[in-house]
Amino acid sequence: MQDSYGRKIEYMRISLTEKCNLRCRYCMPVDGVDVKTHDDMLSEEELINICKVAAGLGVKKFRLTGGEPLVKKNIIDICKKIKSIPGVEELCITTNGTLLPKYIDDLKNIGIDKINISLDTLNEEKFKYITRVGSLKDTLDGIKSAIDAGVKKVKINSVLIGGFNDDEIVDFVNLTKKYPIDVRFIELMPMYDSGDFKKDSFIPAQTVLDKLDAAGIKYKKIERIDSVTGKPSDNGTAQLYRIEGALGNIGLISPLSHNFCSTCNRVRLTADGKLKPCLHSNQEINVKGLDIQEIENKFKEAIMAKPAEHDYLSSESRTKAGRNMNQIGG
Ligand code: GTP
Ligand code: 5AD
Ligand code: SF4
Repeated sequence: MQDSYGRKIEYMRISLTEKCNLRCRYCMPVDGVDVKTHDDMLSEEELINICKVAAGLGVKKFRLTGGEPLVKKNIIDICKKIKSIPGVEELCITTNGTLLPKYIDDLKNIGIDKINISLDTLNEEKFKYITRVGSLKDTLDGIKSAIDAGVKKVKINSVLIGGFNDDEIVDFVNLTKKYPIDVRFIELMPMYDSGDFKKDSFIPAQTVLDKLDAAGIKYKKIERIDSVTGKPSDNGTAQLYRIEGALGNIGLISPLSHNFCSTCNRVRLTADGKLKPCLHSNQEINVKGLDIQEIENKFKEAIMAKPAEHDYLSSESRTKAGRNMNQIGG
């Protein structure tokens, strides 16, 4: 279905749970999530009904996010059910990777298409600092398990934080020489109540190319190909580059320095059953507790409510998202 600006909405991001086994400083408050009752959250049946409606309206790509999607009870069953809905062409997951060794065989068996794994540093102490509780080895083991299982596309998401990981950019880029993975650098988004980062923590994604230039590393721009149609596409989040001889791409995701709203093809669903037409707006449309026809009406309403673009975001502003990232799913 097209929105009121002619954008085709083909991608739904589903935050399956607000819970996570890590506490990344830019994503989650230190104490974890507010306690919500089971009844506040979508049931599995409601979730699948919403996915059916979405697929019926032309959504082809589904991405499970969180919090951490792999802490969700029955995660493999949910994946199986979504995969079997007619019209679902791609099922993807964005995870912190720590539980991948446990689930990778099941995910591979149900035909998971792509796995994106968050990793902001290759240093054990810094990893513990940024995630507050995590261990680097767990995430590295998760990445390895996804590569070894032969998942079609494995990407690393690294949030750029000035003074924290800008000295590791070249090390991250070099991973694309050694492994068949993409490494994407994301500009830190100023979420509602996330983190204590100072103004100079926000660094533009262009810093990545500057670092490569300074190190004398050659790279070229790569055309983005839509994974569903196999045709050139302009509606992804990342600008792609590749260094000579590499096995994977480098991606720059720049929501602050260059917003990509004009090609936005997505809608979001929260774990408590709200459709979010835009990541950075507080508009939410409830789809919990409704029958199929009502869900369909609300889904259409959400698509038509998509704004042309979100308000200007900068290191000095706060998003109007009204929620932290763990309650939206990125
Ligand atoms: P692919 O399907 O692999 O292209 O993944 P993706 O980039 O759509 O999803 P992922 O979950 O890996 O998100 C990567 C980063 O992009 C996260 O920081 C998200 O918050 C951000 N992101 C995803 N969609 C949007 C969007 O519509 N607007 C903005 N501003 N950021 C987004
Ligand atoms: N800014 C940018 N990216 C973020 N993510 C979580 N919080 C933020 C933020 N404030 C990323 C995670 C994950 C993806 C879903 O969103 O690292 O890879
Ligand atoms: Fe968990 Fe991902 Fe948020 Fe980190 S960024 S706290 S791993 S949901």
